[in-house]
Amino acid sequence: MTESVLLVEDVAVEGSSPSGGVISVWTLNRPGKLNALNRDSHTAIKEQCVRVEAEDSIRAVVIKGAAPPPAEDGGRSKPAAFAAGADISEFAGKSSDDVRDFFSNNAWEAVWGLSKPTIAMVDGFALGGGTELALACDIRVASSRAKFGQPEINLGLIPGGGGTQRLCRLLGYGKAMEMTLTGEMVGAEDALRLGLVNKVVEPEDLEDEAMKMAGIIARKSPYTVKVAKRAVRAALDLSFSEGVLAERSEFVALFDTEDKEIGVRAFLERDEAEWVGR
Ligand code: COA
Repeated sequence: MTESVLLVEDVAVEGSSPSGGVISVWTLNRPGKLNALNRDSHTAIKEQCVRVEAEDSIRAVVIKGAAPPPAEDGGRSKPAAFAAGADISEFAGKSSDDVRDFFSNNAWEAVWGLSKPTIAMVDGFALGGGTELALACDIRVASSRAKFGQPEINLGLIPGGGGTQRLCRLLGYGKAMEMTLTGEMVGAEDALRLGLVNKVVEPEDLEDEAMKMAGIIARKSPYTVKVAKRAVRAALDLSFSEGVLAERSEFVALFDTEDKEIGVRAFLERDEAEWVGR
């Protein structure tokens, strides 16, 4: 049996409420190909996105790349990677008619469309579709050896998984344009300075850091977390004034939830909030 291109493990969150909360950890698992995203990867990610929405126990998603395999006898070892892009071998000889449907219903938008929080845990190369997958997540935690880039221009292509748009929103027009036109890579420290990643840690600390952040979020009210994500997201599509109104309306509606009463009372009584998720 061939091994799955996406390994999935649901990790229990201690102290979550409602109890039984898990963080769903997805490992892109094509390490011999630097975890490049092929058709099967897209299908597997999309299937998991459906599961995440359906299962209340899942409070957050962490996406990472499988570690490189050991070097074969006398061979060169492969570098660490989150994902080195879309699988380029699937591009040769294809016309627009061959790829249109596939790219219209892709994993990047499925991840972006999740109502629950997502964290990309980036060690090594995140290039092309790999950077775009990280950008489709809400938060990016990277190791000091992470490298981001949109090298599609070198293939006679441009980013196709939302990279031009999400880079513009996250880094601004000038840097997004530079990355898209030059295809040059951006190292972890520059990525941090630019706001492309939220945090940079040493490779050996990366898993702990990403899981710690996911755990903090997973212990909040799952209901309120979704509302918070929706409110921040509104800033991307609405004008400033409309966004402020949208936020206020979400805020006011939260006064009808049990979790608002639970949270406020827990604070006043110096107690731990035991969320009910509604
Ligand atoms: N699609 C398909 N296969 C890929 C890939 C991709 N995006 N990126 C890497 N691989 C494969 C290589 O073909 C190689 O396979 P092989 O060992 O069977 O020959 C393996 O992964 C290791 O990559 P290699 O190029 O030998 O590693 P390296 O350390 O010399 O270079 C990179 C690393 C990331 C600089 C280089 O692999 C690269 O430039 N990848 C493509 C990045 C890209 O253009 N992404 C955008 C795609 S739209």
